[in-house]
Amino acid sequence: MKSKIIFVLFFAMFFNGILFAQERTTVILQNDWKFKKGDPSGAEEINENTSDWKSISIPHDWAVEEDFIKDGDGNTGKLPWKGQAWYRHDLDLSAIKKGDKVFLIFDGIMAFPKVYINGKLAGQWDYGYNSFYIEISDHLDFTENAKNVLAVHVDTRQHDSRWYPGAGIYRKVRMVAMAPIHTKIWETQVTTPIIKPNYANVRISSLVKNETSEAKKITVTQRILNPEGNEVAKKSISHKLRAGEENYFEINTQLTNPMQWDIEHPHLYKTITEVSADEKIVDLSESTFGIRSIKFTPDDGFHLNGRRVQLKGVNLHHGHGPLGAAFYPRAMERQLEIMKSMGVNAIRSSHNTAAPEVLELCDKMGILMFNEVFDKYDRKADIVDTTNFESFAERNIRNFVMRDRNHPSVFIWSVGNEMHDVQANANNGFRRLLTMLNYVRKYDHTRPVTMVNDVQDNAALRHFDLYDVHSWNYGRRYQLARQMEPNKSVIISESASTVSTRGFYEFPLPEKKTDFTKSLQVSSYDFHAPSWAEIGDDDFMWQQDEPYIAGEFVWTGFDYLGEPTPYTNRTVKGMGMSDKEAARSSYFGIVDIMGIPKDRYYLYKSYWKPGEKTIHILPHWNWKGEEGENIPVFVYTNGDCAELFINGKSQGKQCKSPSSKNSTERFRLMWKDVVYEPGEVKVVAYKQGEKLGEKTLKTTSEATKIKLSADRKIIKADGMDLSYVLVEAFDKDGNLDPLANEGLEIEVSGAGELAGAGNGDPQSFEPLQDHKVDLFYGKAMIILKSGMEAGTIKLKVSSENLKGETIKIETEN
Ligand code: GAL
Repeated sequence: MKSKIIFVLFFAMFFNGILFAQERTTVILQNDWKFKKGDPSGAEEINENTSDWKSISIPHDWAVEEDFIKDGDGNTGKLPWKGQAWYRHDLDLSAIKKGDKVFLIFDGIMAFPKVYINGKLAGQWDYGYNSFYIEISDHLDFTENAKNVLAVHVDTRQHDSRWYPGAGIYRKVRMVAMAPIHTKIWETQVTTPIIKPNYANVRISSLVKNETSEAKKITVTQRILNPEGNEVAKKSISHKLRAGEENYFEINTQLTNPMQWDIEHPHLYKTITEVSADEKIVDLSESTFGIRSIKFTPDDGFHLNGRRVQLKGVNLHHGHGPLGAAFYPRAMERQLEIMKSMGVNAIRSSHNTAAPEVLELCDKMGILMFNEVFDKYDRKADIVDTTNFESFAERNIRNFVMRDRNHPSVFIWSVGNEMHDVQANANNGFRRLLTMLNYVRKYDHTRPVTMVNDVQDNAALRHFDLYDVHSWNYGRRYQLARQMEPNKSVIISESASTVSTRGFYEFPLPEKKTDFTKSLQVSSYDFHAPSWAEIGDDDFMWQQDEPYIAGEFVWTGFDYLGEPTPYTNRTVKGMGMSDKEAARSSYFGIVDIMGIPKDRYYLYKSYWKPGEKTIHILPHWNWKGEEGENIPVFVYTNGDCAELFINGKSQGKQCKSPSSKNSTERFRLMWKDVVYEPGEVKVVAYKQGEKLGEKTLKTTSEATKIKLSADRKIIKADGMDLSYVLVEAFDKDGNLDPLANEGLEIEVSGAGELAGAGNGDPQSFEPLQDHKVDLFYGKAMIILKSGMEAGTIKLKVSSENLKGETIKIETEN
């Protein structure tokens, strides 16, 4: 078993005719960790006996692998995430030279980590979503065969949340070693002060420290590589640094005919920062950047590279369903692929700092990023140290902005979501707002900064004077702020909050958006939303009518653990039920928690991707017992009209009404009076008078077999890569049985393991990482994870009444 992953930034080059090889070493601490729940004494000591500790790898979320607590708090996912635990790992220093400066970079630990090296406290952090680093050089023992033990104490008891936060070391950990003269972590900043079609000015500033005991003349060279990997600029600057001194080394250069970063063509440049002293290159690091211009206009929304781009965004929480908070880059990449396939061009990291890979993926995939640091800090606080707000804000915003500021995808910073006392200027709210804004601006002056609001009347206090763009959640609450300050554009930072359960329909159609029943599921006709929110069509309409709106971020792209509105503990009690009935995950997602599209996916796609053919019919057509009853049929299409046929009989043609004040008439086609008879539903759609295409849907018989389809059949053998396998129940004619709910057994063997399974049912209390899952309205999803060795993963899915299936996934080095 390979126990560590080492990246050495290695360059061999001629310098004054002599060959020098230089390196900065990064070791990813992924495997060979020990874990123990609770707070055993001596857990940090070098020679602690860990024979009864569990072997795990990072990322790790200790709560998501446990059983649900049926009568627990649905808002945080009914999982046992509160508590303390310890992690230990033996550091292997073989790739590191004595005298190097050694750092640990943690991308996120939930929460309040205390980091010990060889029994001594080396550093600590508080906010569970932020990245942080600590220097451990002085704690390490370089004598031969010496043990160097990293121990991390994690404590979520002081953290609170409005959703499932996760627990443990849930993002990656790196050990980075560099020479005593080096560029400091996150301290190369690239900006592009002038961008013209035929040239761009690039300014690169690196903060370099001399940690040797003597003064040195230091040269920093920036070598810029274009998106094709060719060196297009090279510039150096020298300064003398005294022992212990640090200073900025800044160069300005010009690139001709730059390839711009855009959502269509996300071209990325790179700068390699070479630090040399005594005629030798002593440190190398690289930073990725993009050349693009962003601007918010008062009346024409958001401009990217000089043209208007309507933000078609979704909010995404940090969790990944059955993986919990544990961050796997592939899980995130897949989320973004699914969102992009629907037309998304932007995401909001609600309501906290994302894993760094999220930004890298957005850069690569051409997705704009609304980068947010905190949630409201009331009782369910993100702001964990209110006694010393200044220092909390300073260090957390510093890490947040410095880590992410070179990413071209980041187009705005948000200091927080729905901070009620800030909006109301209570408890020195505006002072604190200003503190946060100032720290953002201190570390990055090139992007707008905002705060997300929800209390309309508080706009009268003019908090918007302090930041750059109006950001408002739901219900056209932006109106007062916009009226008072028409020179600022508006982002609907949370739109919709429509709720639905994939595959579930209730009749008759609701009269009000809040007509929720005791079914504990929400009908998928897309008419339901909580009192404060609306259906997606309303937001489309407001944006059509008000072009100053830069765009929207739907709440939410994916369902997530926690916040099961409308079936929270409080609301089910109000309906006369018990805590046990409260759900464990949300109904807000456009796709379910496994990424399987709900009907709404096609509503967004039909509007956001007008050039791509969408013809989607809802509901399914298996309504045994409802013969002769009314079953409304809706069609989501990018066409403008369609004709509906039931068993060949026309039910008439419907067309969208682009100027209707009833938003659903603008964006959907609805036949509300269809009488159910089993058989075939057919839709023929038209666009501008031409036939766009047709779609049919059949009444199926009961499922007889299982069908497996993997999103990727070849994955990397790195212990991190994932294959998502969709399980569907088909009838004898090969049609999906939309009512199948059989229990399935999962067997995984070979070169990988089961990472989790789920089915999109917010009321399912099957443990998320068990070898069992139920079909839910015909579907479920299984996640496989590769091991460290190449080979074949075999997945067998069986059930009592359906013919099982086996699928093989190859893993490669
Ligand atoms: C918003 C809040 C989100 C989520 C959403 C549900 O007010 O910012 O975090 O709670 O409501 O509709």
